Amino acid sequence: MPNKNASTELNKAREVNADIVGASALITTTRDEQEKFERMADCLSEGNTVWARHAPVLILSIAKSKFDYKNRENSHAWHDAGLATQNLIIQATAAGLFVHSMAGFSASRAVELFEIPDGYEPIAMHTLGYLGDPSDTPEEIVDGDPAKRKRHPLEDFVFTGKWGTSSDLI
Ligand SMILES: Cc1cc2nc3c(=O)[nH]c(=O)nc-3n(C[C@H](O)[C@H](O)[C@H](O)COP(=O)(O)O)c2cc1C
Repeated sequence: MPNKNASTELNKAREVNADIVGASALITTTRDEQEKFERMADCLSEGNTVWARHAPVLILSIAKSKFDYKNRENSHAWHDAGLATQNLIIQATAAGLFVHSMAGFSASRAVELFEIPDGYEPIAMHTLGYLGDPSDTPEEIVDGDPAKRKRHPLEDFVFTGKWGTSSDLI
């Protein structure tokens, strides 16, 4: 993937960071940067390494967990990092690309290998690239039949008045 394309997607994450006091950060690497790419792939769990190391771009999303002001705890840090990442995902999808987010990685290893300072917390890793062909993929990592994926019904999590009462807007 040309680096120019990836930077368009990353600009969307910047739009969130521009407005949010507790700005998050992303560390990115493309497969042609071999040493950096291997270092990032090294943070992934074994199960994710098998497939994710074939992606053109690996991304680590990081929350800024402390405000600069008095080094106070930013209780919305994960929300901010999630918004920045979601913008990236929406932009990538609009450009015909795919992002796959993963919790299966070692945050402490990422801190060590990328020298992430205090006050910043690695949240998740993501691949950015193109849809793979399941027929080229080992059976144990093909994610079932996509048509059978279930979504939680809105009634289960959109409430009104009090917790557990489904909203009339649904
Ligand atoms: C909290 C969380 C952690 C996840 N961790 C991983 C992971 O480590 N590896 C992986 O391949 N997928 C993981 N996934 C699943 C993918 O991100 C999944 O493709 C994504 O949630 C989109 O869901 P869909 O494929 O049903 O549309 C995780 C999902 C969630 C919600």
